[in-house]
Amino acid sequence: ASVAILISGRGSNMMALVEQARGYRVALVASDKPDAAGLDWAKQRGLATWALSPRGIGKAAYEAALDTALRDAGVGTIALAGYMRLLSDDFVARWRGRIVNIHPSLLPKYKGLDTHARAIEAGDAFGGCSVHVVTEELDGGAVLGQSQVPIVAGDDADTLAARVLTAEHALYPHMLAEFVMTPFDRVRDTALKLPEVE
Ligand code: GRF
Repeated sequence: ASVAILISGRGSNMMALVEQARGYRVALVASDKPDAAGLDWAKQRGLATWALSPRGIGKAAYEAALDTALRDAGVGTIALAGYMRLLSDDFVARWRGRIVNIHPSLLPKYKGLDTHARAIEAGDAFGGCSVHVVTEELDGGAVLGQSQVPIVAGDDADTLAARVLTAEHALYPHMLAEFVMTPFDRVRDTALKLPEVE
């Protein structure tokens, strides 16, 4: 299976996905930020990279170019890894059931930003991360797998983020390998949304 990894920044999850690739091949590392630190790392590893800023050209033109780059690279699955831009409904529909993301919370808790601060503020005993199918709803698609870590006395958002990040690097490659092997209509049909248990 050929996978593209989309990043916007340092790309530590992308590195984990590359280093622990099993059952999939990283055909492209793509970014909406031409200066994303992770791109240099990917280039040094000899991986194909693509970058374009939507600034100036607009979202539709940016996504059309991204779509072309993905198809040219023969990509079948997209893994978002610290990709900080919302994909349009149109783009998600064109790649329906073929996009996954890692989110630094135990979904359905704390969709969106500032997940660690919100978990600490709520007095939660655990934080964690979730790998989920990407749908039109932000951080709302079927959860494929999660990993939890304890929240300990004295934790702030940074210390918790670091602990969760280690868990992310272990979880994501495993879940992506499983996802690309899953028969398409088992979990990928986004009409199928797993029940949310709070
Ligand atoms: C990770 O915590 C990821 O879960 C979130 O953004 C962060 C990206 O970090 N979506 P990195 O770029 O993979 O190092």
